[in-house]
Amino acid sequence: MFRGWDWLGNRIKSFPRDTPLFISPQDEIGTVSTDPLVFTNERAAPGSPQTFTLKLNLWWSPGDTDCFIHNEHRFLETHTQIHGSGRMQKFRLRDETTIYEDVVMPVGYSHDPFCRVSGKNEWAYPWHRYYADTDSVWLAIELHP
Ligand SMILES: [Fe+2]
Repeated sequence: MFRGWDWLGNRIKSFPRDTPLFISPQDEIGTVSTDPLVFTNERAAPGSPQTFTLKLNLWWSPGDTDCFIHNEHRFLETHTQIHGSGRMQKFRLRDETTIYEDVVMPVGYSHDPFCRVSGKNEWAYPWHRYYADTDSVWLAIELHP
């Protein structure tokens, strides 16, 4: 009945057993060329464009779901809200009481990239999570080196 979708807990052993976060199959769309420092808003003018593989998948969670605080990705990511309403939140520590930014994601909204380039094909992310306020579908946009 999942038609290729999967509960994230099936992929990550440490994922909270009671969090209903589901991922669709991922599609490889093609390639994009961008200067990672421009993508991350650390530089205005593109100097060193780089080719990335573009991968897309959808996420789904019911309303009032904490989609898990994390800070590691081996790719550049942003998200677009497709259905419902959620928030992209940042934290000083892996602790929801240390929240310092709460970006509302209405339908059609894409949040700005928020990682920094920390080395060659290395990205530093703050602690962050998506929070589904209502039943939500959102699109993950991943640029893989
Ligand atoms: Fe993330």
